[in-house]
Amino acid sequence: MTALDLSTSIAGIQLKNPVIAASGTFGYGIEFEDVVHLDRLGGFVLKGLSKKTIPGNPPPRLYETAAGMLNAIGLQNIGARAFVDEKLPKLREMKNIVVFANVFGYTRADYEHTLQILNEGEGIAAYELNVSCPNTAHGGIQFGSDPRSLDEVVTMARRVSQRPLIVKLSPNVTSIAQMARIAEEAGADAVSLVNTFIAMAIDAETRKPRIANVTAGLSGPAIKPIALRMVYDAHKAVKIPVIGMGGISTAEDIVEFMLAGATAVEIGTASYWDPVATEKIVGELERWCANHRVEKLSQLTGGLVME
Ligand SMILES: Cc1cc2nc3c(=O)[nH]c(=O)nc-3n(C[C@H](O)[C@H](O)[C@H](O)COP(=O)(O)O)c2cc1C
Repeated sequence: MTALDLSTSIAGIQLKNPVIAASGTFGYGIEFEDVVHLDRLGGFVLKGLSKKTIPGNPPPRLYETAAGMLNAIGLQNIGARAFVDEKLPKLREMKNIVVFANVFGYTRADYEHTLQILNEGEGIAAYELNVSCPNTAHGGIQFGSDPRSLDEVVTMARRVSQRPLIVKLSPNVTSIAQMARIAEEAGADAVSLVNTFIAMAIDAETRKPRIANVTAGLSGPAIKPIALRMVYDAHKAVKIPVIGMGGISTAEDIVEFMLAGATAVEIGTASYWDPVATEKIVGELERWCANHRVEKLSQLTGGLVME
């Protein structure tokens, strides 16, 4: 059998395989250097970066649910400037890695400022725009759940960004196809989905919320079938590549997302129960391809058989 080809490309960025560590579950990458061979991954997304340092929400901010996890970290991060000055130089010393910077803000001006700071740094392959934050300037609607706000923030980001732009969509919408189309028309080079589902849990004994913030984002295997359906819907709606995620923990999960239309995938919560999960899944994917005589993995994208 000829050599397996797991490579793929997103917005002109070559990836050795489609496995990308998801934002918020892989720190700034550096923390995983001793645990995961970072150059085995297709790439990794940094935790969300904002204009200024954010301390995050008070605890408790994580809670395990049936086949999933609730989090309300509150987008804790060191801020874009400190990232460029302190973390990026360390990442630049690493060979053969692909780094995506996840960007968020509470206003359009926040996003603009953060992108401008990150444009100054070298060693970032692309931006992933997290549009799941409340747009306080417009009365607290999330950018990613209001079509007009989404159009405005992506149009601005396209103008400011000096790198390929991936727009990470919120699943907390009625039509993911409509939101994917808006992102594409506003200039996104790719969309990634899904972010977490707004959810909550209550302690029946104390009658208190399990998470100090009361509501939180649900991730992990519990969301996989819904995420898969949303990737399928988004892929049908746009021509740009779709990066799929939501509950992936095995090579077969990746194959499902690719058949539904994903060009690459991200893995988040799985790294919480096994810090080596991302790298293990790359190995599993190689074995899956060998066992199933799939020589070129990227040919699976959108290959769902209907008859
Ligand atoms: C603890 C935690 C922190 C997260 N932080 C971010 C973030 O900063 N930016 C972002 O776009 N997504 C963030 N996410 C969402 C994940 O990147 C991913 O979209 C989601 O968890 C679904 O994938 P999974 O089921 O594989 O975890 C976070 C998720 C978790 C669990």
